[in-house]
Amino acid sequence: MEFQRRFMKILALSGSLRAASHNSALLRAMARLAPRGVEVSVYPGLGELPLFNPDLEASDPLPVATLRSHIVASDALLIASPEYAHGVTGVMKNALDWMVGCEAFVHKPVALLNASPRATHAQAALRETISVMSAHIVEGASITVPILGSKLTEDGIADHTEISASLRMALAALCDAVSRGTYQGE
Ligand SMILES: Cc1cc2nc3c(=O)[nH]c(=O)nc-3n(C[C@H](O)[C@H](O)[C@H](O)COP(=O)(O)O)c2cc1C
Repeated sequence: MEFQRRFMKILALSGSLRAASHNSALLRAMARLAPRGVEVSVYPGLGELPLFNPDLEASDPLPVATLRSHIVASDALLIASPEYAHGVTGVMKNALDWMVGCEAFVHKPVALLNASPRATHAQAALRETISVMSAHIVEGASITVPILGSKLTEDGIADHTEISASLRMALAALCDAVSRGTYQGE
């Protein structure tokens, strides 16, 4: 599917800082699978955010302002995060907490990717947080891709027949929601 009405920008956020992260590899693979007219960029700076402190919000730390500007400039978000101790990783929750006050997520179409069918607690918590931030979870684009423990790299994910087909469908659903300005999560 090709989205020609205008160039579409999708920002991808990974909740893992591991170099060999499955979640980051999944998002990078999606960047490679993006249709023409759609750019998926994996944000590299979540690890540079200070720990959230409401006292720091007025000073708008540069890593926070940079993340916010990238989110505001994007048409949609892709989010993939591991589960740590039945919760969302501190990396992801910290980033989300910084974005609550500035309302960067309000009305933003979001696809929640899950790299592990086991990670039900984190996914449920992430869904709740994203919803209360007034983003629009695009259900047709929010899929579980069982790659944990598979040793699949970014290349392996992008080249895998079934997985790449699922990821292309998720991207198409997200782009379609952006194009039409309607979100199945509503
Ligand atoms: C501190 C810690 C806690 C974890 N807790 C859970 C958990 O509660 N449930 C689960 O399914 N996996 C858990 N895991 C496994 C991770 O989800 C798994 O290692 C995953 O690959 C991490 O994602 P990544 O490859 O993108 O870094 C935990 C891993 C770590 C390091």
